[in-house]
Amino acid sequence: MSLMDEMNKRKGRIEKEISEVFDHNRSHPMWENMAYYPEAGGKRLRPFLTMITTGAFGEEESRAIPYAVAIELVHNFTLVHDDIMDKDERRRGKKTLYKKIGDARAINAGDGLFALAFKKLAETDVDEKDLRVLLDELSTSIVRVAEGQEEDLSFQGTYDITEDEFIDMIEKKTGYLFRAATRGGAMIGGADEASIKAVGEYARKMGIAFQIQDDYLDLIGDEELIGKDVGSDIGEGKKTLMVIKSLSELPHENKERLIEILEKESNTTEEVREAVDLFEKAGAVEYSKDLAEKYAREAKEHLEILSDGEYKKMLEELIEFMISRNR
Ligand code: IPE
Ligand code: IPE
Ligand code: MG
Ligand code: MG
Ligand code: MG
Repeated sequence: MSLMDEMNKRKGRIEKEISEVFDHNRSHPMWENMAYYPEAGGKRLRPFLTMITTGAFGEEESRAIPYAVAIELVHNFTLVHDDIMDKDERRRGKKTLYKKIGDARAINAGDGLFALAFKKLAETDVDEKDLRVLLDELSTSIVRVAEGQEEDLSFQGTYDITEDEFIDMIEKKTGYLFRAATRGGAMIGGADEASIKAVGEYARKMGIAFQIQDDYLDLIGDEELIGKDVGSDIGEGKKTLMVIKSLSELPHENKERLIEILEKESNTTEEVREAVDLFEKAGAVEYSKDLAEKYAREAKEHLEILSDGEYKKMLEELIEFMISRNR
């Protein structure tokens, strides 16, 4: 079976679980708001990762489902709030939630999703000690995401950011939830400490590579496929790796022009195109691609602890998907 088939198989299962979370309570508007992103689709990469990590350690994947759904709900909560922070208008092919119902109600819906995630987590079929560990794992990762989001926002106000600071920021805002997805999956699968650590590192590095690709797709992606507006990071003056690299490589005149584009409230398609050309000129697009590949290679090395088989193969192929995806 191809990786896509494997992903789709679990996606169906996760989406059925998600609709059960919301179906009982449909009458209240708050539940309608909370269900808006979870039911709009998405790749379901994090729950997939949890399920196959549990499977990789010889446990039934179904035991991982409550935790996997909890991770996806956390992810959706962060998306609701992220869209407010980033002032984005489209998500998963639809209007962003805050654009539809306003900031205040979207913040509330995000808070509700956050809580629902922990309600789901409490359903995990593990003993109390392990449940406490999972609780710590997930909550720790969310604190990291919040730190990363704070850094991402604060970087918008400065041009003085190093590549290391950027990597640190994306590791937190994106890598840590992937890490929690695999570490939790491994714990549920009964893995030993060294194995939990190894799959956590695999996911953390893969998450870094994944975010570099996300930033790339924000620039040159197909809006239909990504379900988000292309060029939105330029509009918001986000300091992606391509921006950081270009600012250090470009001649003064080009650099000034790039800053001018980034500082504008909104950009035309031509200005986004111009920024892309400047990134290309600086070699920053290729540089980003190479760095994503480096993290992908390193991620793969952490899988050496697993024995060969279908699960290891899926985890390996997933890395490739993360850096070559177009959605
Ligand atoms: C988007 O994540 C947020 C980032 C961390 C870049 P995904 O690309 O996994 O979003 P969905 O779940 O498929 O919509
Ligand atoms: C996402 O980064 C980080 C989150 C923790 C949600 P982005 O802000 O780049 O994600 P998208 O592009 O809006 O999905
Ligand atoms: Mg965003
Ligand atoms: Mg963001
Ligand atoms: Mg993005």
